[in-house]
Amino acid sequence: MRRPMVAGNWKMHGTRASVAELIEGLANLALPGGVDVAVFPPSLHVSLVVDCLEGQLISVGAQNCAHQAGQGALTGEVSSTQLADAGCKFVLVGHSERRQVMGESNEVLNRKFEAAQAAGLIPILCIGETLEEREAGKTLEVVGQQLGSIIEELGVGAFVNAVIAYEPVWAIGTGLTASPEQAQEVHAAIRAQLRQENSEVAQGVRLLYGGSVKAANAVELFGMPDIDGGLIGGASLNADEFGAIIRAAGN
Ligand code: PGA
Repeated sequence: MRRPMVAGNWKMHGTRASVAELIEGLANLALPGGVDVAVFPPSLHVSLVVDCLEGQLISVGAQNCAHQAGQGALTGEVSSTQLADAGCKFVLVGHSERRQVMGESNEVLNRKFEAAQAAGLIPILCIGETLEEREAGKTLEVVGQQLGSIIEELGVGAFVNAVIAYEPVWAIGTGLTASPEQAQEVHAAIRAQLRQENSEVAQGVRLLYGGSVKAANAVELFGMPDIDGGLIGGASLNADEFGAIIRAAGN
């Protein structure tokens, strides 16, 4: 049985004051025992969030890491080693905003994924197609290439200690959600691609859905056989809404 996971990607939101308020709200939630919960603040706020969540069953992750672990001359970057030292457990790798806006290629993301694991972090690999790609019937091809890049470079065994998030770009922050059936189709294809390499790895890896998940659509999405939870953007900035999504994953 895969343990469900709900992750909150705060993106470039928050001030010290609003972060403290959000954490207070999270700390007051009655969370179901069977769900792994993590929040992903901007790296500036990671230490603050780690400190404030001490003693809570909520993990902290980062939204990005440098393509090399350790320390070094890389102005403006934060390494996976530094994030682990600050108390992070997870890191997002290849969120579509980084692929598209920051131009991160599969090659760079392979290195980030590897650097994350080298530092003991669990990478959450984000993959997904644009609207144009979906309309051209290329969804499975695009997602397959993004996943295949890691498998080819690092081997399927890399997914023993990783999570995958399928996030259709057209559904992120748009209010458009993939239907449970659309999401399930892609999740099943992702698992099948992994199964071709190693069935045990495929069976064990958690596949999260992301893209306009709210309390109102979470139950149906999380009810699909290959959807093991969600990566939540906008709705994770509201503690009550995020709490309701976590409870949906616990059902
Ligand atoms: P959204 O973002 O829930 O606001 O659509 C999801 C994400 O980008 O991870």
